[in-house]
Amino acid sequence: MAEGKLLFTPGPLSTTETVKQAMLRDLGSRDAEFLALVRQVRATLLEIAGVAEPEYAALPLQGSGTYAVEAAVGALVPRGGRLLVAQNGAYGQRIAQLARAQEIAVVPCDFAETQPVDAAVIAAALDADPQLGAVAVVHCETSTGLVNPVSAIAEVTRCRGRRLLVDAMSSFGALPCPLGDWQADALVTSANKCLQGVPGLALIVAKRSLLVAAQGQARCVSLDLAAQLAGLDRDGQFRFTPPTHALLALQQALRELADEGGPGARLARYQKNQQALLAGMQKLAFQTLLPPSLLSPIITSFRMPSRPDFDFSAFYQALSERGFVIYPGKVSLADCFRIGTIGNLHPRNIEALLLAIAEVLPNPLPTSPR
Ligand SMILES: Cc1ncc(COP(=O)(O)O)c(C=O)c1O
Repeated sequence: MAEGKLLFTPGPLSTTETVKQAMLRDLGSRDAEFLALVRQVRATLLEIAGVAEPEYAALPLQGSGTYAVEAAVGALVPRGGRLLVAQNGAYGQRIAQLARAQEIAVVPCDFAETQPVDAAVIAAALDADPQLGAVAVVHCETSTGLVNPVSAIAEVTRCRGRRLLVDAMSSFGALPCPLGDWQADALVTSANKCLQGVPGLALIVAKRSLLVAAQGQARCVSLDLAAQLAGLDRDGQFRFTPPTHALLALQQALRELADEGGPGARLARYQKNQQALLAGMQKLAFQTLLPPSLLSPIITSFRMPSRPDFDFSAFYQALSERGFVIYPGKVSLADCFRIGTIGNLHPRNIEALLLAIAEVLPNPLPTSPR
């Protein structure tokens, strides 16, 4: 099989050869084997989220992660409803954009990109506006790598009887996501982040009561989660052509997650990756955007060196030519680039990336204080 580049990105990200190989066959969407596969994948997702039927249901949906966010927002907020969106990065802002497109009244609750969402501020906003029926928050804000305190946010939301949507796109499968403890109404993720499947499959774990109440409420047919659940419940089938190869890959990826020791063991590997990255980048005088206390093992934002001879496009291209793909920044307050440490990456891959970075830097960067 052709060797691909190593992706140090938040997705698409590097997958194992065995996950790629799982896609090398065709499978009919009504075949008993495929229907059993879908059942098994749904059950495993519930297990990872620490919840069970009949309170919760897991739903695969065709599309990238954004499709799951858009669908879940539509299920969460009834027509005429109001949604509070906690925003401390690009993905919080995207939730607001997806909600507004569905003509949902959005009340943004803004925080700095380098600050976690404060549950007390969310509580005060909910108290000030009894019409706010739901809250949406991003767990790991992948634009910076910062992890928001979902447990505390879930508590203030639950106590006030409001609904909660957690965008756990880049955290589910590695960082703890105890949906049962949070009692969140819906969690969304993608097959192609910490679960290490391939792109093309969006995943939702939601309370059945929410999905049943959302019947007839969807603003769009293909993202109607109540209908998607009804189809899966009725005959185990997707309503429209399912990404069969992506599901085969996810089935294999979930086996590999279990073989690795589950989300805790995967998190430990990502932590080792990030520790190796931070140590090496510090030696090369790169500075992180976030202070050490806010860094997460998912992805790290580094400040662009402020030197006239450093050109990010040339840096990116030189690394890509050596087989290492990094990621541009996505924050507004500072000029940054990002390096992901999730996916099929191991400390040896990080060491190889660091050697390549040292090789392609124009000149060693001068050491500067934080
Ligand atoms: C937290 C978060 N939400 C939403 C998305 C959007 O997912 P996608 O690009 O798969 O549509 C991402 C992608 O990285 C993300 O990290």
